[in-house]
Amino acid sequence: MVGINEDYDKLEGGYLFPEIGRIVGKFLERNPGTNVLKLGIGNTSEPLTPAVIEGLERGVKNLADVKTYRGYGDEQGEKRLREAIANNYNHRGIELDVSEIFVSDGAKPDSANIQSIFGAGNIAVQDPSYPVYVDTNVIAGRTGKFNKVTSQYEDIIYMPCNVENNFFPDVPEEKADLIYLCNPNNPTGTVATKNQLKTFVDYAIENEAVIIYDAAYQAFITDPKLPRSIYEVPEAKDCAIEINSFSKSHGFTGVRLGWSVVPKDLVVENTEPGKVNSLWNRRQTTFFNGASNIAQEGGIAALSEKGLKESQGLVNYYLRNGEIIKEGVESLGLKAYGGAPYIWMETPDKMPSWEFFDKLLEESYVVGTPGAGFGPSGEGFFRLSPHGHREDIEKAVESIVYNLKL
Ligand code: MLT
Repeated sequence: MVGINEDYDKLEGGYLFPEIGRIVGKFLERNPGTNVLKLGIGNTSEPLTPAVIEGLERGVKNLADVKTYRGYGDEQGEKRLREAIANNYNHRGIELDVSEIFVSDGAKPDSANIQSIFGAGNIAVQDPSYPVYVDTNVIAGRTGKFNKVTSQYEDIIYMPCNVENNFFPDVPEEKADLIYLCNPNNPTGTVATKNQLKTFVDYAIENEAVIIYDAAYQAFITDPKLPRSIYEVPEAKDCAIEINSFSKSHGFTGVRLGWSVVPKDLVVENTEPGKVNSLWNRRQTTFFNGASNIAQEGGIAALSEKGLKESQGLVNYYLRNGEIIKEGVESLGLKAYGGAPYIWMETPDKMPSWEFFDKLLEESYVVGTPGAGFGPSGEGFFRLSPHGHREDIEKAVESIVYNLKL
């Protein structure tokens, strides 16, 4: 008789965002009709831009005509889209071959699946971090049990990100093999400098480690001096895979489109250049039939000059929402950090973050995300997402400012 994958049973509770949805559902059962204001999951709210809509419509129309109809495409993605992505990197002085770019249905599946092409090894994560990195490695059997005292999984290297280090960690003292970095960081909303990224590139090269670099929020970097891609650091192509997304920058959370870069120069223990790239190609061609061709037309349009300009408007809108949230939190005398795009606030008097979650919901009808949901160093912090409509953000901030009992 077949058994189950018992590593699933090591997971401490359900996946963070559905868990929050479940708790909010229960709150609504007890308080029917309450207008709950959602600053929890980073779910976009504003409509797609005209350029993207034109692209998506083109994608649909192509399917309506026998001359332009297409079924399966390349699993790696439309060549035109991969060229547009490569071109975009090129504007930042980064040269990529289209064969190094793999289009997908989003950064979440790529950041979940990428670990599957690597063997056993030590995982290192920023603490706090996007829960997908840890959970997928637990499921893959790379970790030990969850320790309820430390709130850590055994065999994971947690790299604390806190006020003292400006939410960017030091390289690990021990040997890590697979290192997850997210920049701008989810959940802290802080942005790393090129020198900070370089410390990890140097570490990875010295220790033959691979960096999984999640750049899903790169569009929210406003300072042109800060790197938007890890490949702005020399030699990063030798050690880093970059994952990216159209979700937050272009409003594709529901459309689903992303990409990963697996450089041919990247080598790991006992491999030749190109091997890791070919493994990801093998993985994707086996497990995935390519992103929707409609979504890809939207993506090509999003990366056109007009598309990029229009999407910048969306990004600016969410950035302004973030400023409104931060100002509101600070007006209460609480400390808030980040802004690219998430706001990472300290809970009042270091209150446990799940307790603050309940308090905020009960008193202000606002949903956020407890910092502890992102790792033990998230305890005492709370994430507020700026991806809602402006009027909802304003209502939520007003409700926090007037109703939260401090
Ligand atoms: C988040 O809120 O952290 C993200 O929106 C979740 C995701 O992208 O999967």
